[in-house]
Amino acid sequence: MTTPIYLDHHATTPVDPRVLDAMLPCLREDFGNASSRHHVFGRQAAALVEQARERVAQAIGARYSEVIFTSGATESNALAIKGVAHARPGAHLITTAIEHRAVLDTCRRLEHDGWRLTVVPVDRHGRVDPGDVQRALAPDTILVSVMAANNEIGTIQPLARIGAVVRASQALFHVDATQAIGRMEIDVEAASIDLLSLSAHKIYGPKGVGALYLRRRPRRVELLPLVEGGGQENGLRPGTLNVPGIVGLGAACELALACRAEETARLRALRERLLGHLAGALDGLTVNGHPEQRLAGNLSLGIDGVEAEALLLGLPEVAVSAGAACSSAAAKPSHVLEAIGVAGTASRAALRFGIGRFNTEEEIDRAARLVVERVRTLRGQG
Ligand SMILES: Cc1ncc(COP(=O)(O)O)c(C=O)c1O
Repeated sequence: MTTPIYLDHHATTPVDPRVLDAMLPCLREDFGNASSRHHVFGRQAAALVEQARERVAQAIGARYSEVIFTSGATESNALAIKGVAHARPGAHLITTAIEHRAVLDTCRRLEHDGWRLTVVPVDRHGRVDPGDVQRALAPDTILVSVMAANNEIGTIQPLARIGAVVRASQALFHVDATQAIGRMEIDVEAASIDLLSLSAHKIYGPKGVGALYLRRRPRRVELLPLVEGGGQENGLRPGTLNVPGIVGLGAACELALACRAEETARLRALRERLLGHLAGALDGLTVNGHPEQRLAGNLSLGIDGVEAEALLLGLPEVAVSAGAACSSAAAKPSHVLEAIGVAGTASRAALRFGIGRFNTEEEIDRAARLVVERVRTLRGQG
């Protein structure tokens, strides 16, 4: 069998060879502990970490001193939400119905522990109405958490408008930008963002490393750490820094910024090509998510009369996800599809394509051909 075609870039991305090249010295000669200030090994590692911090900051329009490193977006989200919440027990939080579990379940945990939570709905395209956020705000709302772009259906939120609403209140604005970095413009000033989570492995960097942006000016975000330890990252995220990972994240952010415009146009064209092939050959297709305000490489597709899991079982040559599973580990129906009104059989028919940096037109053509054949077989038309 030839290597399967990888079309699951919302799940994770391959490490870009340029990112790997930047990381390798940190696994060899530059292996120092970035906290070891008394010798050159430590100082070199610290310098590499600070260079990476600058690169992450540049990718989101932030200042260098406003970025701390974590183990990924799950931890960044938890630190942002619990860190802010624990400073005000019992206060009010707002999030949306289509957040990643790392946000939704963290908020639900806090609700269980005595905080009040409002989960604002989305429209049938998965968009949040800034008016709904405005109406949900209460005098004791401390945090509003809204993702920049959705990992299943690709919908992009009107961040600047939501940010303006939140900025006019006492609350802080947290954005899970895990799927958005490198795929759309993200600027913490333009969107009035106070905290932002990102992850290296979604942007052609290594797994197990991410960052959290924390605004310092004009309002400094105060939060409590999740763990105690050696005081690294201003005491907010103690523990020996993952220097190779951090350097990889920095390189990935630099590339994401440099490639974004060209890459977005290319991925959009590939997505249109894929949809064109599928829609030309099959009837009963529905595109989930927003028609325009969506990530360029995302195609979430409902295929009438076909169970996505069954389709994928017979399609080892194409690596895509069944949109109905919120993660491969959970066979529950997707809360995202439910939130946009796609339920039951239709949600089980959803396939999620995530096209990425290294996909080619030939791969798209071949993947489309294979999907069409498989659907026809399952529909008894083969
Ligand atoms: C929107 C979103 N937030 C958070 C995460 C979790 O990121 P990580 O794997 O870095 O913990 C993911 C990844 O699945 C995601 O897509």
